Amino acid sequence: MVDLSYYDRWYNRSLELHKSLRMAALAVAAAKIAWLVYDIKPDYAESIGPWERTAATVVHHLIYLLMLLIPATGYVVSTSAGDGISVFGLFQVPAVSPVREGLRDLAIELHFLLASGIGVLVVVHALAALKHQFIDRDGTLKLML
Ligand code: HEM
Ligand code: HEM
Repeated sequence: MVDLSYYDRWYNRSLELHKSLRMAALAVAAAKIAWLVYDIKPDYAESIGPWERTAATVVHHLIYLLMLLIPATGYVVSTSAGDGISVFGLFQVPAVSPVREGLRDLAIELHFLLASGIGVLVVVHALAALKHQFIDRDGTLKLML
């Protein structure tokens, strides 16, 4: 998406797809976050020490936060000229207001930085979960179910 030139047939289409798919991802994230209110979470395995519990909880919360902040900055970029966002051509998410160029540029920077950040966090998170499952063998993956 980012390497395409203006003359590429995918130039607009890939961004449209990105926006539609990510708005759908935002809806799923919002539903998951709302579900936290009803969720009964299993406790960590007993062998998991206090600093690991804190680290896991911090990473989970950061992931939730980024799942909202990344679409929020994407929204600011996409609606910066005052146009709404078309979701799969089915409906429009309206723009709140046009924004100044400086704010738009900041949102582009943040969008890229935060998207890279969630990538790092998810890899760390997944590796930690797999380490606990297959090296420590403490049944961590069962917690997901
Ligand atoms: C979890 C959600 C999302 C992730 C992980 C994500 C990730 C990314 C990444 C990696 C880029 C390339 C950034 C660059 O190289 O500068 C990008 C660009 C972009 N994204 Fe997202 N995005 C998400 C959600 C959204 C949403 C919801 C929208 C708008 C509705 C959006 C609008 C855009 C736009 C307009 C660009 C191009 C920015 C530019 O002009 O450089 N994104 N996104
Ligand atoms: C190979 C990939 C992954 C594995 C093996 C994995 C494993 C796990 C496990 C075992 C848990 C429960 C841990 C616990 O409660 O201590 C968990 C929770 C969680 N995972 Fe993953 N995960 C993976 C990918 C992802 C991805 C891609 C995301 C998000 C983009 C994600 C976000 C979360 C969040 C937010 C929680 C916390 C849920 C809560 O307690 O509210 N995970 N994961």
